[in-house]
Amino acid sequence: MSAGSWKESAKSFLRRALPPGIHDPVLASARSIRDLAGSKAERRKLLLRHPVCLLGYSPRGLYPKVLSLCLTTRCNLRCFICRRENVKVQDLRFEKLFKVRNAIRHASTIDLTGWGESLLYPQFEDVLAYIFSLNARDDLIQITSNGTLLSGRLAALLAGHLGRMTLSLNAAKEETYNREMRHGDFGKTMRSVRDFLSGLPEADRKKVLFHFVAHTGNFREIPDFIRLARDTGVFSVTVGQYLVDIAEHHRYSLLNAREEYNAVIRDGEALGRELGVAFFARRFFTEKASSGFECVDPYDVCFVEVDGQVGPCCFCGSYRIGNVFDSGFESVWFGEGYRKLRKRRYLPACRNCSPFIPFDDPGAHFTAYLKEKEEFCEIHDMYGEITRSAKEAK
Ligand SMILES: C[S@@+](CC[C@H](N)C(=O)[O-])C[C@H]1O[C@@H](n2cnc3c(N)ncnc32)[C@H](O)[C@@H]1O
Ligand code: SF4
Ligand code: SF4
Repeated sequence: MSAGSWKESAKSFLRRALPPGIHDPVLASARSIRDLAGSKAERRKLLLRHPVCLLGYSPRGLYPKVLSLCLTTRCNLRCFICRRENVKVQDLRFEKLFKVRNAIRHASTIDLTGWGESLLYPQFEDVLAYIFSLNARDDLIQITSNGTLLSGRLAALLAGHLGRMTLSLNAAKEETYNREMRHGDFGKTMRSVRDFLSGLPEADRKKVLFHFVAHTGNFREIPDFIRLARDTGVFSVTVGQYLVDIAEHHRYSLLNAREEYNAVIRDGEALGRELGVAFFARRFFTEKASSGFECVDPYDVCFVEVDGQVGPCCFCGSYRIGNVFDSGFESVWFGEGYRKLRKRRYLPACRNCSPFIPFDDPGAHFTAYLKEKEEFCEIHDMYGEITRSAKEAK
């Protein structure tokens, strides 16, 4: 259908659907929306800042592009980097998925990660079946996993629907792995990863990547990690900085090893090119503060926790917008809390948000939870001073 005939049929639908005298103002306001915001993406943003859902109708194009569903907060590992002391162990109640059915239907990406190991969820296969019954898009599913429970069977279930599988390993050697990923067994995990890879169609194998959370105790292993990826048949490696969550751990932050870490990353980049492994890592002393960034997560992403609480991203600390299991998805996503955040990123975490501030900024190396605590001021000042001296010395 051409754009012109599509518009005509939309107009005639409105004429039939709306009472006389209402459709003309509606069409007039639709025209003014077009004047105000030229592109489709701008119109989407404009509408999402307003109470579009008042008539009980929620246009499909306004649902989140990325829906993240936490299936469980349980985990079979106790990684050094991961603070789990205050995590309430809980599984999603399967029937609650019905509450987010429209969001599932209209998402381009569904991320099944959350703060636990989603493959431990007892009804994981039923979740996939439910999602595919509503949305059978290619490349729909994205998972970040510790890799311990991967299998050829899972590969067959995901084939064709896999958008990305990120495997958090954080080590290249058995000894480091078993220390970093407590309760994990390097040999077993790598066997599961290989089973999974060999069950995937060729095209989907390219969507698997290895992830390494770097801190002062493991970053020297990054070049070996790139070799491990290549030897396993994985051709993308990402490195994330350890986000320190408890004050005493600040000494493990990469802020304490900037020059040496940069040198390892430079070696990693050269090695990646040589081995044909795409390698992504941030570095110190290269990023400039940008004043004009606009984070699009409040428009595009919705994180649903295991109990239905919702936040816009995984960097917002303790802030939550509402509960979709209690209130329904639409009343939260199109509701006041989200609209307010779309108009202005007013959260404390937004002012100092790890992905958007330069890598040199101490704020990029701590979790939003720690940044909310008073004790963080002292740590920030200390590293701020070290950063200034390091920059002056350059
Ligand atoms: C919380 S885990 C949950 C998914 C799964 N259990 C896993 O480990 O991949 C999601 C991601 O957060 C990363 N992560 C956990 N704690 C972190 C921290 N303190 N700093 C940076 N990344 C962290 C993990 O390595 C993983 O890639
Ligand atoms: S596997 Fe994931 S959720 Fe489990 S302890 Fe490690 S980082 Fe945390
Ligand atoms: S905390 Fe960061 S990612 Fe989250 S909404 Fe604010 S700016 Fe965006």
